[in-house]
Amino acid sequence: MGMKKKLIFSVSSLWMVLSFGLIEAVAENSLITKLPGFSGNFRSKHYSGYVSVDGNPPKNLFYYFVVSERDPSNDPLVLWLNGGPGCSSFDGFVYEHGPFNFEAGKPQGSLPILYLNPYSWSKVSSMIYLDSPAGVGFSYSENTSIYETGDLQTASDAHSFLLKWFEQFPEFVSNPFYIAGESYAGVYVPTLASSVVKGIKTGMKPIINFKGYMVGNGVADHKFDGNALVPFAHGMGLIPDALFEEAEAACKGNYYEPNSKECGIILDKVDEALSGLNIYNILEPCYHNPTILTKDIDGNGSTIKSFKELGASTKKPLGVRKRIFGRAWPFRAPVRDGIIPLWPQLMLELSVPCMDDEVATIWLNNEAVRKSIHAKPESGGWRLCTSRLSYYHDAGSMINYHKDLTTLGYRALIFSGDHDMCVPFTGSQAWTRSLGYKIVDEWRPWHSNQQIAGYTQGYSNNLTFLTIKGAGHTVPEYKPREALDFYSRWLEGKLI
Ligand SMILES: *[C@@H]1O[C@H](CO)[C@@H](O)[C@H](O)[C@H]1NC(C)=O
Ligand SMILES: *[C@@H]1O[C@H](CO)[C@@H](O)[C@H](O)[C@H]1NC(C)=O
Ligand SMILES: *[C@@H]1O[C@H](CO)[C@@H](O)[C@H](O)[C@H]1NC(C)=O
Repeated sequence: MGMKKKLIFSVSSLWMVLSFGLIEAVAENSLITKLPGFSGNFRSKHYSGYVSVDGNPPKNLFYYFVVSERDPSNDPLVLWLNGGPGCSSFDGFVYEHGPFNFEAGKPQGSLPILYLNPYSWSKVSSMIYLDSPAGVGFSYSENTSIYETGDLQTASDAHSFLLKWFEQFPEFVSNPFYIAGESYAGVYVPTLASSVVKGIKTGMKPIINFKGYMVGNGVADHKFDGNALVPFAHGMGLIPDALFEEAEAACKGNYYEPNSKECGIILDKVDEALSGLNIYNILEPCYHNPTILTKDIDGNGSTIKSFKELGASTKKPLGVRKRIFGRAWPFRAPVRDGIIPLWPQLMLELSVPCMDDEVATIWLNNEAVRKSIHAKPESGGWRLCTSRLSYYHDAGSMINYHKDLTTLGYRALIFSGDHDMCVPFTGSQAWTRSLGYKIVDEWRPWHSNQQIAGYTQGYSNNLTFLTIKGAGHTVPEYKPREALDFYSRWLEGKLI
């Protein structure tokens, strides 16, 4: 079989040869042979299961691995992480760039139907979807004390996961390796990358062939992200010039921590203007369920309207889902050091309705599906975003992480759906520019299907900033074709 042949020719280190039998056994046990809801043939091999790290009882981290449909021995290997914190990377698998498109079952509540996704990122790369940290998705530990965690522990555990995962799949250790993610993974990705780089420097085995990373609509820094909304709202025509000018004058460029009463009052007017919009894509409709509670954090009716059922009607073939999780904060509340409220915790407090991400939730809680993908009953019911973590943002600003990684020669793609109001492109554009790198590819449109699909600016040190026109917070969900285009070009090292 393919795996055996590749091992014989490519494996050089002794431990791999010694544990040859074991490796194959582990990989074979995690092979997925069928998936309820899907009646076709897989385009490549799929594996899933647990890798246990750190301690006794350990943290059991769940992954779903899709082998590249093109050239597995040469195509890059990409680890994908969704954010939250607390959200499962099945978000990416089901709704964004996984191998299948999911159609809701009929009647409502029955098993979804799966079709091949022509824009799956597995067309050009092997993909690992990891539920991280333990407590998220299907990842769990019998020691629930470890559900109190933070950025640094999460990065360290994900690094341990990778080292052990490569032991189980040694044939992929020489492939170019990338780390990618979205939203709060704007923190997961650089912190994990940094951990991986330290491991390489200190000679940790196996040696990961790490090449670079990608972040989509990711949080990076509370000042840059906190200052992003007002210019975004102005540029998008959501607030008038006069209000923008008042805000500039009163807040003096500091929207992230309003330091005068006057500034606070004007920012409330900005929030008021934005309050009925779909925060994850201002172009998508916001479904108003008449039974919705309209109480917000301050006991007033403004903030929560944007969290009402989202994107209910759309022209997309299978529809954009009704509710998504990104960063869980109301407007202008960027990620700060300290404890971070998780989505479900906020929802509990606020009684936000329209709770279910039906397709993913039904599919991943179906007994037969769980059995097929080797999800253990001990992991509990699957939820898109968990409330069982207690999570600290303890890594601070990501700016220095990005500086260090790009200075060391690792490639970075910072992409942004330009109609996302949750982590607006204005923040990512500003912090990438702030690094002060030389512009090597000046702001220009990029194309997909012979149309302008967004804009890009290339910097020295292989740092690329890219927008995707009309896309929201979860880019491939809104623009699957364009997403596969920029993704594959960037991985191949071509100009996008
Ligand atoms: C459970 O995790 C906590 C926090 O990491 C740790 O202090 C404790 O020793 C662990 N318990 C066991 C039984 O390992
Ligand atoms: C709530 O909003 C209303 C109308 O915008 C305003 O008059 C009122 O002062 C607000 N209340 C609080 C507690 O902010
Ligand atoms: C940029 O990436 C390319 C291809 O991966 C590499 O050859 C080159 O050395 C990198 N440039 C810098 C400045 O790091």
